[in-house]
Amino acid sequence: MDRIRIVGGKPLNGTIPISGAKNATLPLMIAGLLTDDTLVLENVPRLADVTQLQHILSNHGVDIMVKGKRPGDEDLSGQTLHISAARIVDTTAPYELVSKMRASFWVLGPLLARMGEAKVSLPGGCAIGTRPVDLLIMALERLGAAIEIDAGYVIARAKGGLKGGEIVFPKVTVGGTHTALMAAALARGETLIENAAREPEVTDLADCLIKMGAKISGAGTSRIVVEGVSRLNGARHAVLPDRIETGTYAMAVAMTGGDVLLEGARPELLQSALDTLTQAGCQISATNTGIRVARNGAGIAPIEVTTQPFPGFPTDLQAQLMALMTRAKGTSRITETIFENRFMHVQELARLGARITLDGQNAIIEGVQKLKGAPVMATDLRASVSLVIAALAAEGETMVNRVYHLDRGFERLEDKLGRCGAIVERISG
Ligand code: EPZ
Repeated sequence: MDRIRIVGGKPLNGTIPISGAKNATLPLMIAGLLTDDTLVLENVPRLADVTQLQHILSNHGVDIMVKGKRPGDEDLSGQTLHISAARIVDTTAPYELVSKMRASFWVLGPLLARMGEAKVSLPGGCAIGTRPVDLLIMALERLGAAIEIDAGYVIARAKGGLKGGEIVFPKVTVGGTHTALMAAALARGETLIENAAREPEVTDLADCLIKMGAKISGAGTSRIVVEGVSRLNGARHAVLPDRIETGTYAMAVAMTGGDVLLEGARPELLQSALDTLTQAGCQISATNTGIRVARNGAGIAPIEVTTQPFPGFPTDLQAQLMALMTRAKGTSRITETIFENRFMHVQELARLGARITLDGQNAIIEGVQKLKGAPVMATDLRASVSLVIAALAAEGETMVNRVYHLDRGFERLEDKLGRCGAIVERISG
């Protein structure tokens, strides 16, 4: 199993290109199931989760052609996928595949909408919490689906097709909103989605569905209206930049000091995280080509942050911010409200010398003068990358084990950091 070795203490200086967003790519690929035409996705990141979803979709009969690099393309430029679900040969998503990646459960809505039936394994819990799917099932029931759960599978049927309806989410759910949008796009009549997730990845999915011929208004607000159509067509869509990758590298620069341009990043996708970094003592500026992050000389100021659905501070940056706060001049408090068990990084950060105490959903972080390298590992990708951030500022060598978590969500992390002066290498095997 690969490991990443980091020797801390170097500031980051230079340019880091930001990849297409993993969490937009996954639902966009799944949206390919809604049409028998070809959906072309550009700016797709090279990530293990994308490859895994390719396997899952091919099990349903979807052909995916990955366009190779063109002359002159940079190593780090995104890939283009041609997704063609001309004939769906299987409406079952088996446990062996769904259990490897939760987001693959989202095939349920499009398969049901297009084929009138679907059988998808329940994804089960994961490292960050129990993560139920009751709200996704509720959304499909509101559109007329008959759903039963049998032997670990969700079996959904809509014999005469789905019908528009009113879906009121009691809690903001990204996956629930993706599911509702994709199913409603092919339902008969109008669907109203209330308390919809406003995450940029939801808006990106809606933009792509609109290009495919869907009639959607209000995406990006908490009230979305979908007027169902009988058929969707192919389209070409470029995946939006990854706001979590952007925020992660911004925090790495805040941690080490230095000056980095995050190329292709868009500030409006992560304003609350950028505001937090400004409070912590960074200089952040939007440029024509991305976001520039610098911290020169000044120390890191402590902060208080609570994770919230978009536009609030994202749970997917909580671990990274905590790593940064381990070196703040004073005591910080981070409250996690989205997932109940998303503090696995705390014990590992402690191995590097961090002082963190947990009290329910609150973490109290007492900044320390220095961190010291150690072998570490984590069981979730955001937790793993928080260890990388801490390691970049730790004295001596840190070995980050179980790198496959990083490969699920960060494209060529060691290249991107290495180009900016970090001492970081992948050790194979
Ligand atoms: C998406 O997960 C992301 N995953 C997560 O990113 C992200 O942390 C999360 O949204 C919140 O922003 C992808 O996009 C692939 P939710 P999702 O439904 O859609 C509860 C990463 O690191 N809930 O918005 O599964 C749930 O338990 C990953 O890239 C129900 O109670 O998250 C949680 O408390 C991790 N019932 C809250 O809602 C349901 O049926 C929000 O979850 C569904 C969710």
